[in-house]
Amino acid sequence: MKRKPTDHIILTGFMGCGKTSIGIRLSYRLRIPFLDTDKWIEKEQDRSVSQIFAQEGEEAFRRMETLALEKLLDQEGPQVIATGGGLPMREENRLLLKKLGTVVYLRLRPQTVWERLQGDTSRPLLCRPDPEGEIRRLMRLREPFYLEGADVVVDVDGKAYEAVLDEIVERVRKGRR
Ligand code: S3P
Repeated sequence: MKRKPTDHIILTGFMGCGKTSIGIRLSYRLRIPFLDTDKWIEKEQDRSVSQIFAQEGEEAFRRMETLALEKLLDQEGPQVIATGGGLPMREENRLLLKKLGTVVYLRLRPQTVWERLQGDTSRPLLCRPDPEGEIRRLMRLREPFYLEGADVVVDVDGKAYEAVLDEIVERVRKGRR
């Protein structure tokens, strides 16, 4: 596949799919920097994602995500970039991601998300009366957008980190879906 000018490797996928933990390991392996859009926003804003949702609502957070991607366009690659789970839902963001580099969608089953995130209070979208149902509903809604925005899709269910890393490195190199 023809490499893109900025050449970042961008990880997308639902909450709990391992974008951050896999991203950090990938950055060690490739010896390139790691950046997490949620952390970038929290630093810029000097408050947590939960506080932003509570104080200004989801839409304001979504605008901050777009701004983060625009800022990233000015940064030299390659870097490994982990994104928030809802970021590829905006068309504008999907286009920005494609400009930034190769987009890797880390796909996993809703049941696995639920097993991983039960009791988690750091994700405002899951602090609702039926978080398990919410995971299924949101995943159904989001799946087409993750797929549309991805250059490479990697299934992560039941795989060790090393196996996922091998697959990402190999497939990003070949640019295969
Ligand atoms: C969100 C996912 C979170 C964070 C925010 C909203 C979402 O990031 O951006 O809570 O809409 O799925 P992670 O995917 O890293 O949990």
